[in-house]
Amino acid sequence: MMFHLQSFLLTTSVVLLSTSAVVNARHSEFVMLEGHDQVESYTSPLPYTYIAEDDLPDDFTWGNVHGKSYLTKSLNQHIPQYCGSCWAHGAMSSLSDRIKIARNATGDEINLSIQHILNCAGRVAGSCHGGSHTGVYQFIKQNGHVSYDTCAPYIACSSESTDGFCGHVDTTCTAINTCRTCTHGAAGCAAINVFPNASLAEYGTYSVLKDMTSVSHKIKAEVYARGPVAAGVNAEPIVKYEGGIVNNTHFWNMMVNHIVAIVGWGTDKATGKQYWIVRNSWGEYWGELGYFRIVMGHNALGIESTIAWATPAAFTVQNFPCNEDGANCQDAPSFESSSSSSVRTQYYTDPSKDGVPLGALLSQK
Ligand SMILES: *[C@@H]1O[C@H](CO)[C@@H](O)[C@H](O)[C@H]1NC(C)=O
Ligand SMILES: *[C@@H]1O[C@H](CO)[C@@H](O)[C@H](O)[C@H]1NC(C)=O
Ligand SMILES: *[C@@H]1O[C@H](CO)[C@@H](O)[C@H](O)[C@H]1NC(C)=O
Ligand SMILES: *[C@@H]1O[C@H](CO)[C@@H](O)[C@H](O)[C@H]1NC(C)=O
Repeated sequence: MMFHLQSFLLTTSVVLLSTSAVVNARHSEFVMLEGHDQVESYTSPLPYTYIAEDDLPDDFTWGNVHGKSYLTKSLNQHIPQYCGSCWAHGAMSSLSDRIKIARNATGDEINLSIQHILNCAGRVAGSCHGGSHTGVYQFIKQNGHVSYDTCAPYIACSSESTDGFCGHVDTTCTAINTCRTCTHGAAGCAAINVFPNASLAEYGTYSVLKDMTSVSHKIKAEVYARGPVAAGVNAEPIVKYEGGIVNNTHFWNMMVNHIVAIVGWGTDKATGKQYWIVRNSWGEYWGELGYFRIVMGHNALGIESTIAWATPAAFTVQNFPCNEDGANCQDAPSFESSSSSSVRTQYYTDPSKDGVPLGALLSQK
């Protein structure tokens, strides 16, 4: 029976795909590139194996755990020009949230560089013309690091993009496009070769297409134990969303063409039904301060079909001190042998190691 429904859902998507190609102007921003050959990479136990559904709270959001928010800032993928990089935003903001959670929301927030991904992950992850959340995770894991956004800020361009000023900027994957500083006058900009960065330990997926009956339990346990997840959705019906709980469960609206992040869930008092709390990347003037809510358990707009999670491996909490012009950070031997090196790295402990969900731990604080 499961097999039949699966193939029905898949067939429906394929039919819709060809229909929408004819009538619809919106390009899908969810694209799996050929270079993306590893969709999962993990060995740790998944949270649903040690958290029973009955043990999960009725309401839980990383936006308010015992009065504190563990979410990083809202983003806008379409500024300074239109860019179909939702996949990078959904993936990177949930990874940034998990770093914030690992730091108990102390210290200045670490914001990971989405532009580093656009500049360097074009073969595996995507571009301003679409990509995938799991592609981002594969790239960071294999590359070994992603920079922080203060050395490669978001400019909404990738190499093939011609929107806005994109035709005039170089976004190739070079050292200077991974982390840079600029000086006045003729000297221009220079690469920084040792910079604060984060690395990635494991990543994986959940999907209602693999597992119809218990996917909500799996997603909730994942969010509760380890933090927000990236998720696919069909963006068409929410372009004009003005708040409330999206309750559209039509099969023909389940084809994923956009990536967002699930940060928690709640229970609707009027209906007693649960809904997801989801962060978009269209600015805070859209939806409910950049977020939307959507019914849980019906794969509404495909929200339970394309989930991806990732855990950090390590991240820099104290940097190697570079000079303003970066001169002392351009040549590997000088910083490796430097006696002034005070670099500190925080290593991530996966809650799946001892089976204590971070949501439960931090609720007690
Ligand atoms: C965060 O809080 C937990 C639980 O109180 C504690 O074990 C951990 O050491 C803290 N981590 C940091 C980086 O502050
Ligand atoms: C990251 O972004 C947040 C929100 O804008 C900001 O408060 C924080 O200072 C940023 N962190 C750094 C290191 O720039
Ligand atoms: C990444 O940060 C670590 C310290 O957390 C540092 O040792 C390493 O050199 C950095 N990598 C790059 C490419 O700058
Ligand atoms: C969604 O709509 C259906 C039909 O109108 C209704 O029965 C159900 O209670 C609604 N669910 C929520 C969570 O609003």
